[in-house]
Amino acid sequence: MDSKTEASITIDVPITREDPDTLGNIVKAGLLANPRTLPSKLFYDERGSTLFEQICELPEYYQTRTEHQLLVTWADEIVALSGAEELVELGSGAATKTRVLLDAMAQAEQLRYFVPFDVDETIVRRVSEELVNEYPGLQIHGVAGDFLVHLEHIPEGGQRLVVILGGTIGNLPAIAAEDFLTSVNTEMASGDFFLLGVQLITNPERLEAAYNDQKGITAKFNKNILRVLQTQLGAQCNPDNFDHVARYNPDAHRIEMWLRSAQDQTINIPSLDLSVPLKKGEEIRTELSAKFDRPLAENLLITSGFELVKWYTDSEQLISLALARKP
Ligand code: AVJ
Repeated sequence: MDSKTEASITIDVPITREDPDTLGNIVKAGLLANPRTLPSKLFYDERGSTLFEQICELPEYYQTRTEHQLLVTWADEIVALSGAEELVELGSGAATKTRVLLDAMAQAEQLRYFVPFDVDETIVRRVSEELVNEYPGLQIHGVAGDFLVHLEHIPEGGQRLVVILGGTIGNLPAIAAEDFLTSVNTEMASGDFFLLGVQLITNPERLEAAYNDQKGITAKFNKNILRVLQTQLGAQCNPDNFDHVARYNPDAHRIEMWLRSAQDQTINIPSLDLSVPLKKGEEIRTELSAKFDRPLAENLLITSGFELVKWYTDSEQLISLALARKP
């Protein structure tokens, strides 16, 4: 086979080389803080990724469908404006929406390189194998890592389009989001493009419904974080002794997910020498999901070193795709 058209996969797994104390220290600090918190990246083991894929199909969770539709409408334009031949996706997950961009790049004969970057190694491997079959000649360099820590594992490339979709940026508190996007900007070359998917501020009932689905999948997803604590840190706790809570915080314009202790109980993590007594009704915050408007998103991009090129939104103003460029 011609080396130019030979498909190939490399997978880099910096997450496994992470200092084992790091996670433990973050968990310990979070569980002892006020309010108590757990890091959202812990949701995404294999089971958590699967539950999140199920969330994306729920009738109440309009976010994924709406963003997908926006991409279908605008992918050709985005690809043409960016001129990119390398797509880097931070938080790539199952990469369902990514295929819309990859299709547009292939159509424009611009597709050479794809870098899926996700905290769940299983899904990085699965997606890489699927895509290398779907796109002949595509070179894939997957990274299983924490994008707050391992950004430098993104390989050098040609003209790039870096994307963060699905409202993932909303998981970070405002200051952390700015720091993170500044690091992303630093990894990019002048003239590279960046596509940021954000969830927009909308009616609070609709927002809350999206995180309190009838089937209880989001509740399972939320409680999965305790199972990951059990498998990764040997935590002693019973996920069934917690209730799922999701509510909109209008001042911070974000959904917050919490686990509420259904009884007096103690979470023990012997490996961290940690014992956390919880009263009935006490809550642990597991996720922030910030919602944006155009000024908030534009300000975030500009303070991180980007310039806004285009702002795409749906007719109901639920989701936006902000296309930006590193000057
Ligand atoms: C992947 C972080 C964007 O906040 O909407 C969905 C995760 N949590 N339902 C979101 C999530 C509960 C999702 N993000």
